[in-house]
Amino acid sequence: EKGGYDYFMLKEIAEQPKAVADTLLGRIDGSGSLTLDEVRIPPGVLREIDKVVIVACGTAFHAGMIAKYAIEHWTRLPCEVELASEFRYRDPILDAQTLVIAISQSGETMDTLMALRHAREQGSRVLAICNTNGSTIPRESDAVLYTHAGPEVAVASTKAFLTQLVACYLVALYLGQVRGTKWGDEIRAVIRDLSSIAGAVDRVLGTMEPVRELARTLASKKTVLFLGRHVGYPVALEGALKLKELAYMHAEGFAAGELKHGPIALIEEDLPVVVVVPSPRGRSVLHDKIVSNIQEIRARGARTIVIAEEGDEAVVPYADHLIRIPATPTLLQPLVATVPLQVFACELATARGNEVDQPRNLAKSVTVE
Ligand code: M6R
Repeated sequence: EKGGYDYFMLKEIAEQPKAVADTLLGRIDGSGSLTLDEVRIPPGVLREIDKVVIVACGTAFHAGMIAKYAIEHWTRLPCEVELASEFRYRDPILDAQTLVIAISQSGETMDTLMALRHAREQGSRVLAICNTNGSTIPRESDAVLYTHAGPEVAVASTKAFLTQLVACYLVALYLGQVRGTKWGDEIRAVIRDLSSIAGAVDRVLGTMEPVRELARTLASKKTVLFLGRHVGYPVALEGALKLKELAYMHAEGFAAGELKHGPIALIEEDLPVVVVVPSPRGRSVLHDKIVSNIQEIRARGARTIVIAEEGDEAVVPYADHLIRIPATPTLLQPLVATVPLQVFACELATARGNEVDQPRNLAKSVTVE
């Protein structure tokens, strides 16, 4: 049932192009507009929404962080994202104009369930993004947009994450479409790019051998740091989470702009630092800033592992290891940038003799608070 792969995780990583394509299937029509009929919240109600709040845990929380950038940019609606386990304990401000999005692969995560129950008690509408038909979270929500990743068996989430991102983009674009924002042209262009993104994920998968080789050389390291900015920041957090749960290594993700506020003190000779570089075409100011960050940490001895778009030559002189990803619109980059980090963590876990599909102390779905 592992389809010839040694681990479910490897199989699930390989299934990502299909999972992404399946999650898009039937949701973008021939004219390039979105038809999310399953989201049974009437467009009139969505037009009245004045705030979006996303709740989720772990990897799903990282998808939510990325969704925040997309929702705020494309819809101009304020969007908060919060760890489900923290949410109801701070007495959040919620009302009937708040759209709450609960993201969960399993649909059974107790922290997320309790957060959505709290939101509904306050009169908010809840939209679930979920991978498991008929599970508790969609059953208790006002509406659900299913991710079509298929069953995810490995504890470490991979294909579910990519499909959560796709579902979040669809919701963000749909909100933009329904509410008619000034980004109409950009939204149409992104919908086009999203329709062909599965091919880009597939291309990344075809170039992963050097990433595996690199991972094997780092098996005896104690710490790996991850840096990113904008949507690359949650990608960095996701890379660190994968490494913790699979390789049992100390790993931390930082917003690269925060380096100078403390973490740069951690940089020492030969410390591996993975940097997710934003597209030089999109938010080019951020690109230039992160290139300076790479220079700074390299000057202090870090071993830089740079994930950058094809054609981005500015990073070349400062990259000890360069991992190329296809060019995408800025907001979609996490769909391709996360893949090497999954492969990296999986290979490190194998090299360290860890149980890849069933890491110690972890369960696939966390049904206790
Ligand atoms: O089933 P859920 O998406 O609600 O699960 C949330 C987290 O427990 C989950 O993403 C966890 O962080 C993964 N093991 C990460 O790989």
